[in-house]
Amino acid sequence: MAFREELPYDEGLDNTLAFFNEGYLYITNRRKRFNRDMFKTRILGGKQVICMAGKEAAEAFYDNDKFKRHGAAPNKVLNTLFGQDGVQTLDGEEHAHRKSLFMNFMTKESLEEIGDLVEDEWMKSLNEWAKQNNIVLYEEVKQILTIAISKWVGVPLDEVDIESFSKELGNMYESAEKIGMKHFKGKHARNKNEKWLEKLIGKIRSGEVTVDEERPFYKIAFHKDLEGELLATHTAAVEVLNLLRPTVAISVYIVLSALALHEFPKEVDELRNGDKTYNKMFVQEVRRYYPFFPVAPAIVKNDFFWGGHDFKKGTLVLLDLYGTNHHPELWENPNDFSPERFTSWDKSPFDLIPQGGGDYLTGHRCAGEWLTIAVMQRALDLLVNKMSYDVAEQDLSLSMKEMPSVPKSGFIIQNVQKVE
Ligand code: HEM
Repeated sequence: MAFREELPYDEGLDNTLAFFNEGYLYITNRRKRFNRDMFKTRILGGKQVICMAGKEAAEAFYDNDKFKRHGAAPNKVLNTLFGQDGVQTLDGEEHAHRKSLFMNFMTKESLEEIGDLVEDEWMKSLNEWAKQNNIVLYEEVKQILTIAISKWVGVPLDEVDIESFSKELGNMYESAEKIGMKHFKGKHARNKNEKWLEKLIGKIRSGEVTVDEERPFYKIAFHKDLEGELLATHTAAVEVLNLLRPTVAISVYIVLSALALHEFPKEVDELRNGDKTYNKMFVQEVRRYYPFFPVAPAIVKNDFFWGGHDFKKGTLVLLDLYGTNHHPELWENPNDFSPERFTSWDKSPFDLIPQGGGDYLTGHRCAGEWLTIAVMQRALDLLVNKMSYDVAEQDLSLSMKEMPSVPKSGFIIQNVQKVE
């Protein structure tokens, strides 16, 4: 008979407070206490939830026969971060069909293009930064990415004020787990921009507005579902935002890259020679080392037995993304920042999972992971080889419970100069 046991249980009627207070470390702390990679808890209004971490857990989590996504994300997240009816909420063939729309955008040429667009805007900003005393890198990079991704997607930039648009896109991903004003801002930004994009999509479909037919905006506007129907304008708007919003969120990783250069200055020498392999290893280590999304949620599709435990249909399961990226059985000295570790990495789709794991087309792994890496690589080269700057005295502390976690000051730089 298969080994079967009761899972350890984090006692308490509702541990939501502890979940948010301990943030990225809530699951790790209990895994250590129970000496197990899997345990039960109650969160989000006393709902029973299974938390799990590690490579095998990730493999099980991304098995479509075991888990589904529809109904997994809380409304708070849908109203700010994801949007209703986006690809994140789909399962099976419907998901694969919609996901292929996204993955078809990620060609080698288009990844090169987004890098070029980012570099162009960055170089223009450098001229301005050189004239100013203090530059808050996080806010500046959000604007650079807003312009670059809007051009890449084909969204008409003459309709927006870049500063407010970049703030609104930021509010959507900065507000998912927040309460009060911050959450309201995220919800408001989503509603406002969904309405604007819905109208534009209507006009593109009627021919009143023309956009480049090769651009994602046009392709999403005319994408047909499995029944051969155009997407509802609202759904199409949500999917356009699924390209814009997370690309602006790469600003977090870029600022974390700048923080890593500051915290581990010997890395700068390694990167100065412009070696693309080391640059990629550094970027991978930034994505592994620093926190971003703590967990991914899914729901048990049908009863199954795995890892000595019975999973009951309908149970919510959280895969610990941060904990898996720091799992001591997967990563030697996981709390050291060491890009070299990637020289011998076997490229498993289930251990480095800051943007989810498994397969892109059939699973929910991030559609923009290659784009994220391409943009981060370009920004890293810009920071190290195309400019010089001083890091101001400031509060660079990184919260382990804010999502996403950005250095408190936003990373202020001074005495910026172009390096020719
Ligand atoms: C800032 C860096 C990013 C991080 C940390 C990130 C993280 C994630 C995570 C954790 C997931 C969910 C994985 C899962 O549920 O199993 C995801 C899904 C997704 N991401 Fe990203 N992402 C980033 C950038 C991007 C970019 C640049 C794009 C688009 C250009 C993008 C588009 C998507 C989409 C469409 C999904 C849904 C995929 C699906 O449900 O099949 N993301 N991302």
